[in-house]
Amino acid sequence: MAPLSRRALLGGALSALSLAAGRHSAWAEVAALRERALRKGLFYGCCASTAHFGDAPFIQALAREAGALVPEWEGKRGRIEARRGVLDFSAADRLAEFAANHGMLFRGHTLVWWNSNPAWLNAALDAASPPESLLTGYVDAVVAHFRGRVHSWDVVNEAIEPKDGRPDGLRACPWLRAFGPAYLDIAYHTARAADPGALLVYNDYGMDTADPWQAARQHAVIGLLEGFRRRGVPCDALGLQAHLKTGSNFDQEHLRRFLAEVTALGYRTLITELDVADHGGMDIAARDRAVADLAGRYLEVALDQPQTIGVVTWGLSDRYTWLDRRPWTRWVEAWRPRPLPLDSALRRKPMWHAIARAIDAAPHRPGG
Ligand code: XIL
Repeated sequence: MAPLSRRALLGGALSALSLAAGRHSAWAEVAALRERALRKGLFYGCCASTAHFGDAPFIQALAREAGALVPEWEGKRGRIEARRGVLDFSAADRLAEFAANHGMLFRGHTLVWWNSNPAWLNAALDAASPPESLLTGYVDAVVAHFRGRVHSWDVVNEAIEPKDGRPDGLRACPWLRAFGPAYLDIAYHTARAADPGALLVYNDYGMDTADPWQAARQHAVIGLLEGFRRRGVPCDALGLQAHLKTGSNFDQEHLRRFLAEVTALGYRTLITELDVADHGGMDIAARDRAVADLAGRYLEVALDQPQTIGVVTWGLSDRYTWLDRRPWTRWVEAWRPRPLPLDSALRRKPMWHAIARAIDAAPHRPGG
């Protein structure tokens, strides 16, 4: 067979390229966030609730987009141990099973929090000489129940509150009053012993902008993480909730510096509850652009750090967002929050595209 002419070879290469480009542009248009993240060695996921399981179109979108799942409510102590000594994992197990059946990572949220605790627990913690088993017994039992099924645990959630005036910036909460600052160390050691394979995360909010109140929180969190390292506390990563708000004093370089401080201490980072609140209004397109812009600028920095291993949004669709808490917002579209990647009709919003672009632009992680 006569050798191919230079023209034929070039033509063949160009058509192969255009086919690949065509496939790529088609892929780029439709590939779900979970696929895009996996390709980079990251994960994308969201919180969900069993209350949404009856919404078939939503569950279909969830299965398509999410590569990780975290219980919005079902993993909290107020749900698991509503009655002292009676652990009910049924709802959390349904979410863990859904995650396993759909090839999703499962995040545990949360073991030790100042909020969403049953009344009996707050009373027991505030009594004289509360037994440490109120802390260790629960952490051990819950982590052991999910052993081998959980990618990462938010062991302690929101332990920082500089406004409470402590030099260490710790929140004056029932756990601190009962067991002192050591409650955090005890919680992480107990969780590690119960499931050595799970990544242990310290999770908190308000670490995103240059606003003074957030800078104070960032400073206190760095102090907490440094102390963990000094005392050999088995905490592996920092979870930034990233509940953002348009119009806030978000500065990319400020976030970059903070994340660099965290990773210099040897921690990985996760974005654990991303959503973007805004100020409402009738111009839906402008609101969606502003929400997408902030989410994109945030993730551009966060995902540029190879130590950031994943992004979780606090919900997938505006149809179900915790920000929709005021009864009257449900009836006035202009007031309804629009903080998530899909709109209430499950259509991909500019925020979805901003997240996709940030993931596509992120450096590859090992395995990606
Ligand atoms: C919220 C849920 O979204 C609500 O449905 C629930 O009633 C209370 O908790 N930071 C956290 C999450 O770590 O657990 C909170 O989730 C939102 C703020």
